[in-house]
Amino acid sequence: MEVIYHKKQLQDYIERQKEMGKKIGFAPTMGALHQGHISLYQKAREENDLVIASIFVNPTQFNNAEDLKKYPRNIEKDISILEKSKWVDMVYIPQVEDIYPENTISKHYDFGGIELAMEGASRPGHFDGVGTVVEELFRQVQPDNAYFGEKDFQQLAIIKKLTQLLNLPIKIHGVPIFREKNGLAMSSRNERLSVESREKASIIHTALVQAKDWFSEFSIEEISEKVAALIASQKNMKLEYFVVADETSLQTTTTKNTSQKYRAFIVVIVDGVRLIDTMEM
Ligand code: PAF
Repeated sequence: MEVIYHKKQLQDYIERQKEMGKKIGFAPTMGALHQGHISLYQKAREENDLVIASIFVNPTQFNNAEDLKKYPRNIEKDISILEKSKWVDMVYIPQVEDIYPENTISKHYDFGGIELAMEGASRPGHFDGVGTVVEELFRQVQPDNAYFGEKDFQQLAIIKKLTQLLNLPIKIHGVPIFREKNGLAMSSRNERLSVESREKASIIHTALVQAKDWFSEFSIEEISEKVAALIASQKNMKLEYFVVADETSLQTTTTKNTSQKYRAFIVVIVDGVRLIDTMEM
């Protein structure tokens, strides 16, 4: 596996691969890699000639300086995980100036409303930051296919919209959530949890499974109250939000219509760590 640290080196590499007619599969990450990331590369391996990873902790998508500071970083370990997986041909680890040559600021995008609820409401500017870094990485890596986890379902929708807005010839693929044995969605942030916190955080998945069970019988308002009560019953856990949204428009709703598909979105702070999860209802 090759490791590339600079944009110029990457440009030469991509030019060579394109000349050979290679089909490129790409999944960008912010590191602290886990099995969920590896499942993206496994999928990319099945569908492409060349698989590229990237690791870049993108400052513009953090609306909280403390969160950025605490984001887990371990490049050596990440490189070794990718190498051992055998799915990846090259990992790009750009420097800040390779992505932001002038100022480290976001562009502004109009995603047509899908950016407004949930993470967009809770983390102002977050999706502009994600859009900016993903646009830049897409322009540099020029993949044919790109892979993103469904855990960040709203992000996945934003990236599909971004490629459409920019008219980029890239197919975006969602990859199912990879869960720990106890149901907890795999996330880089789980690294910040103690063994006990990881165990009790499985209640987030339990809450979603329960919500799905309750969905045909109870109103969305009643389900939200039940989920809030379940999370409130746990020590050192705070529910940031639990909402149900239309799966396509990503507008939150309190009413149900049998012809529409719905998805629940939840964010819980467990011992100070912000964890996100989602499930179709
Ligand atoms: O999901 C992530 O890890 C990040 O938001 C992404 C897509 C790599 C952009 O920084």
